[in-house]
Amino acid sequence: MCGIVGYTGPRRAAPVLVEGLKRLEYRGYDSAGIAVQSGSDLKVIKTVGKIARLKAIVPADLPGTCGIGHTRWATHGGVTDANAHPHRDPTGKIVLVHNGIVENYKGIKEKLQAKGAVFLSETDTEVIAHLIARYYEGDLEKAVKAAVQRLEGTYGIAVMHADEPGRIVGARKGSPLVVGVGEGEMLLASDVTAMVAHTKRVVYMNDGEVADIRPDGFTITDLDDRPVDKRIDSVDWDLGEIEKEGFSCYMEKEIFEQPESIGRALSGRLDAEFATGKLGGLNLTPQQLHSMQRIKIIAAGTSWHAGLVGAYLLESVARIPAAAELASEIRYRNPVVEPNTLFLAVSQSGETADTLYAMREVRRKGGTVLGICNVVGSTIARESDGGVYVHSGPEIAVASTKAFTSQLAAFYTLTLLLARMHDMSPTEGRRFMEALRSVPDKVARTLTLRDQIQAIAKKYAKARDFLFLGRNLMYPLALEGALKLKEISYIHAEGYGAGEIKHGPIALVSPETPSVFLVPDDFLREKTLSNMKEIKARGGPVIAFGVEGDEDVRELADDFIGVPKIDERFYPFLMSAPLQLFAYFCALELNRDVDQPRNLAKSVTVE
Ligand code: M6R
Repeated sequence: MCGIVGYTGPRRAAPVLVEGLKRLEYRGYDSAGIAVQSGSDLKVIKTVGKIARLKAIVPADLPGTCGIGHTRWATHGGVTDANAHPHRDPTGKIVLVHNGIVENYKGIKEKLQAKGAVFLSETDTEVIAHLIARYYEGDLEKAVKAAVQRLEGTYGIAVMHADEPGRIVGARKGSPLVVGVGEGEMLLASDVTAMVAHTKRVVYMNDGEVADIRPDGFTITDLDDRPVDKRIDSVDWDLGEIEKEGFSCYMEKEIFEQPESIGRALSGRLDAEFATGKLGGLNLTPQQLHSMQRIKIIAAGTSWHAGLVGAYLLESVARIPAAAELASEIRYRNPVVEPNTLFLAVSQSGETADTLYAMREVRRKGGTVLGICNVVGSTIARESDGGVYVHSGPEIAVASTKAFTSQLAAFYTLTLLLARMHDMSPTEGRRFMEALRSVPDKVARTLTLRDQIQAIAKKYAKARDFLFLGRNLMYPLALEGALKLKEISYIHAEGYGAGEIKHGPIALVSPETPSVFLVPDDFLREKTLSNMKEIKARGGPVIAFGVEGDEDVRELADDFIGVPKIDERFYPFLMSAPLQLFAYFCALELNRDVDQPRNLAKSVTVE
């Protein structure tokens, strides 16, 4: 959470910082601030609220060509101007922005207070500024290195000193930091979206590294002052991909991009000759892959839901025992890491702390972990043993949509690859592959249901509670539909396996509580129909997402949406966009901030 940005070069820094923060706003939007250096003067401007508010109070002619900025997702201390970053040291000469959590800040603060230090905020961050000041003897980089060695927890920081104009020092442990290499100018940010308008040449920092940037160059060293040899990578997407392009918000745009993003996730990954999947980056030999007897998927939120679909598929189609685990749970369970178990860490951002730490724990125990990530160069992608990029392109809205269906595409491809190594015949492989190839077009057809879905959303958006119900592959989709709705509309929603409602949740059914049923024409259709009847018999309104032409479902439901027909294993793709659109239109109806829902942030880098 939180986004940080830094700029040093020939241009005025303030507009670059504010624009960079706007791009990072998805990481947190409680408060924002910048510090800009002009001569030996360090001016700090900060405010609660979003970047638009900050922009309004930053003078258009603010001088200074070096600066740092921050957009906050509050952890320590309320949402106040005083707690907003940047923070200063007591001399006022050091300014600092921080993303992460200093776990031992209380002890440090008490010691400093005992020596007379006065703190102006309730944040954990302010202690870092104080520590740096204590170690400062004319060299900011040295002082930063000494200070961070006293910290426990996580940090991505950018620091400036009034006596060292043009210099920004960045350090990371557990929170992402990227250096942008421009022509006569340098940037530093939590991710590349903040800098892609200025440069596409980037250097991804690792934990324990410190960057010293000035307009004419940079160095990266470790905490023992040894230089680290870094590669300059090139960002392979354009600014256009992070613009709204005529859509009212990013979530809407990203929902409608799915036919292309799924196509990209599949592109070059289906081998017609052998009717199998082709995944180049796994870094495992066919023999090693073949010897895997169990698959464990670790993820959070929407990525966990994609993982649940993946586990169902890998087990039922590839016949490999598979399970999806919540990263925040597995990490502290002292997990058993058996040989011949393949772990898959799934994450859009590739920075989610829960998933990253769970993955590190598994690797520490000798397990093999592959990453399924969207963000290229992200920490999970770099720290895993190999993996798959899902190529959905930058996902900006806090609610994940296109990354979910691209993660599904990765799971279907992996399932095909593994199934064809085991029992699946070439004929069946071809059938699976053809169905997979048809997905982008069929998803495009589900998007034409938008007006119908909007009308249904209008009808139900005032409900206080919703149930989302489905069986088998539709169970994770029910969880995902409920998550989408609560996340952006703030309507309470629960996802359940439809077979589970009689074990308790059916007590919630009433004329005021609509149930959203996912009813594809799969082998469990009849059972799901019975569950629908159980709800109807108790006066509960039913919205059914079924298959076009399925009159039984249409007749039983109060409202019906029909998606195109497809091989029954592929309905997770076709139910996704309608569920996302339903949540989106409910949120619009309730006037919610769709892209930046309250209390949330896109990249969850705290536990
Ligand atoms: O970046 P990740 O996929 O690891 O993020 C995991 C969750 O934080 C994320 O999916 C979250 O649940 C989304 N806001 C859901 O829309």
